[in-house]
Amino acid sequence: MADVQKRDGFATKFGVIAAAAGSAIGLGNIWKFPYITGENGGAAFILVYLGCIALIGVPVMLSEFVIGRRGQKDAAGSFRRLAPGTPWFLTGWMGIAAAFMILAFYGVVAGWTLHYTFMAIGGNFESMDPAAVGNYFGSFISTDFLPIFWQGIFMTLTAGIVLAGVKNGIEKYSKILMPLLLGLLVILAIRSMTLPGAGAGIDFLLKPDFSKLTGKAVLDALGHAFFSLSLGMGTMITYGSYINKKENLGTTAIQVTLADTGIALLAGLAIFPAVFAFNVTPSAGPGLVFVTLPSVFNQMFGGPIFATMFFALLAVAALTSSISILEVVVAYFSEEKGMDRKKATIIVTILITVIGMLASLSMGRTSDIMFPFFSSGEWIRVGFFDLLDKFSANFLLPIGGLFISLFVGWKMKAADVRDEVSNGGTLRAMFFWVFIWAARIIAPVGIIIVFLYNLGIIQP
Ligand code: PHE
Repeated sequence: MADVQKRDGFATKFGVIAAAAGSAIGLGNIWKFPYITGENGGAAFILVYLGCIALIGVPVMLSEFVIGRRGQKDAAGSFRRLAPGTPWFLTGWMGIAAAFMILAFYGVVAGWTLHYTFMAIGGNFESMDPAAVGNYFGSFISTDFLPIFWQGIFMTLTAGIVLAGVKNGIEKYSKILMPLLLGLLVILAIRSMTLPGAGAGIDFLLKPDFSKLTGKAVLDALGHAFFSLSLGMGTMITYGSYINKKENLGTTAIQVTLADTGIALLAGLAIFPAVFAFNVTPSAGPGLVFVTLPSVFNQMFGGPIFATMFFALLAVAALTSSISILEVVVAYFSEEKGMDRKKATIIVTILITVIGMLASLSMGRTSDIMFPFFSSGEWIRVGFFDLLDKFSANFLLPIGGLFISLFVGWKMKAADVRDEVSNGGTLRAMFFWVFIWAARIIAPVGIIIVFLYNLGIIQP
């Protein structure tokens, strides 16, 4: 198959892990995981989240790798090649739609992290008291120009890396950025855990209080597993298609999952001890990182340095994720529609950036424009930013993940799946039947529970 040989791909084992883990590790781990953990009471929520990761996350990730590497195409094209003449490719289309929506708001939040990095470098938070930091965040995200300026910078960086191509772009940058990220988080976690009064934060993360565990918390955990592992929209199908035929897909899926989960827990260790040491409320919500941490850093020796490191780290983590989201769309337009890669990257980036600008404006100037949205059993009204977030995460990703696991579990021949996970029989693949039944039953049932919850059919 000549066209297969011409495709770009990851050159090394480390490149594969670094790129896929780079995709998984992002704002989901460092910004979202701590705040939903804070809202849901800590350790017990984390245990449920870990269960979701193991039972649903791992099989769905391996399913995506199998589809991508066997299909040797982008998210939609891989389905089309493995099941020609069937509507399964629509799963890939849905993923492309999800990629547009997620990257639009993701670029905005990532832009905030860039702005905060430069604020921290200039020592601008030093003179602010906690109330001023909170007010600053609120007024910053609601201004017209500044958030869009930083979003534009971030989207340009994302496009630049994707433009360089898979091997020279994603792999090269992930190799440099991922270990840097890990090192910075470890330093930050150590600093945070050695603050006086940090013990309460460590207890919050490690001592489960199951009485705090609501049905909502359980289902929140399941939903976040999808977003955090970059599952349900074809990211891991696209990356899977670049994985060398000699790599072990099962161990890759497990290593990526461990890395993602490890970074989320590390982020928790970096944030919660400090939150408790400085008497900040753990359930502060989505603003936790931006509203709370600058004041936390202000009360630390060397605060501006830690603050700069932290926000730079967030931007780096967001960048290795955003390139994987953009790559899903670029791979689709270049492989399915025959568009030049460069042209596809530029056009798609401009479109997504414009959608993101509207999302950013919806935090301020257009905040009165609301959309109806059905969530947890009732109609609520949400702004454009929230609509993009909620519709993609609560609706598109779970349905995508459902079809992905059903496809591998029931549509593909078990012999073909075994061939792919065992590299043509050269690996023992002892876990094979566990994986197949997880893809057939455990993951789909879990996903359906998330979905019914999102529609409000199951109440906590
Ligand atoms: N997993 C990324 C994060 O945690 C976000 C993401 C979602 C990336 C979906 C790709 C696809 O930040």
